[in-house]
Amino acid sequence: MLGSRIIVGVTGGIAAYKAAALCSQLVKRGAEVRVVMTEAATRFITPLTFQSITKHPVAVDTFDEHDPSVIQHIHLADWADVFVVAPATADVIAKAACGLADDMLTTTLLATRAPVIVAPAMNVHMLANPIVQENIRRLRERGFVFVDPGEGPLACGYTGKGRLAEPDEIVEVVAAVLQRKKDLEGKRVLVTAGATREPFDPVRVLSNRSTGKMGYAVAEAARDRGAEVTLIAGPGELPVPPGVQLVRVETALEMLNAVLDCLPSADILIKAAAVSDYRPASVSPSKVKKSDGPLVVELVRNPDILLEVAKRRRHDQVIVGFAAETDDVERHAREKLEKKSLDYIVANDVSKPGAGFGSDTNVVTIFGRDGTVLSLPPMAKRQVAERLLDLVAGAGRVGAVGGP
Ligand code: C5P
Repeated sequence: MLGSRIIVGVTGGIAAYKAAALCSQLVKRGAEVRVVMTEAATRFITPLTFQSITKHPVAVDTFDEHDPSVIQHIHLADWADVFVVAPATADVIAKAACGLADDMLTTTLLATRAPVIVAPAMNVHMLANPIVQENIRRLRERGFVFVDPGEGPLACGYTGKGRLAEPDEIVEVVAAVLQRKKDLEGKRVLVTAGATREPFDPVRVLSNRSTGKMGYAVAEAARDRGAEVTLIAGPGELPVPPGVQLVRVETALEMLNAVLDCLPSADILIKAAAVSDYRPASVSPSKVKKSDGPLVVELVRNPDILLEVAKRRRHDQVIVGFAAETDDVERHAREKLEKKSLDYIVANDVSKPGAGFGSDTNVVTIFGRDGTVLSLPPMAKRQVAERLLDLVAGAGRVGAVGGP
């Protein structure tokens, strides 16, 4: 971050005080920080606090043009390498989504061409409001990077999602965006995500609890690093990441076919999907009626997609598997690394708090065929994705990692 030019936009929520810690961390890491506040933010924390931390004046009033040689908001907007809004209220998110510019912060935001990171903080019901969610979606589609709020007790008395992400998490995202190396430019990345669903009759399926969040985060991170991304995903509710080609599948067999179709043109395959290992031996064409006795359903093995990939992969391709385990994580992960001829395996203990299905965070260790062992603390799935891609894309690795 040394010498990076960062605008921190502070808006009027109770979490505004946490922006002081954020600025302090950014300054400590060598960044040059300029703070822009809304009027409402100055009710929660004074500009003097930020001025003291950043050693620069704080901009609040668009018309406070103290330097006649420049137009302040355009000057700042052009100066920034990255613009962080933390905390971001529902109001500033709505204004940004509509292109409104009625104060110094929103005017500078509209004028900047720097990447924008938004860390929302608000009441749980405000955050869940479909209007707010729609605004967030629109901004995401425009490339704004969101640092999701955490869950917990809120200042308003409610408990739920809406707490500003911790300053160190925001700093991590700022660092990732600043380094947003386009290190996957020209690379084709194939990602699988979510659960597969194995029909038993027209209304019933065999499936698992995977939501696809980890795979979607990998797809988005790879896209942002310049890759051409194809995401093969099982059924799910997650919004399709803009700029990513989505191939929707239902069963493991469909996923196998989709993966094998795309494999020849892929440079990197990241298999985050939780594929059903078994499927009902036959699918009844009509709904199976209940009877008083037990129902015995015969299951047959699904092919292991990664084993099929191992037979066909080229040596210049990088193949990554995921291993969700509940015990003896390292031993099982290493066995899979070998058996499935992977370059990396991302192992997680899904029984740990903050790890596994449905969670926004994950706790993983990445093992590499080259001896890499990277144990990561609990972090957002997007951050896990970035660290994984750092390894995969790391200096000259793509195209150089040996296959089986
Ligand atoms: O052997 P296990 O299912 O634990 O391995 C998990 C890894 O293998 C994941 O990367 C998953 O996508 C992949 N897998 C697969 N085909 C299967 C089952 C799992 O490719 N039938």
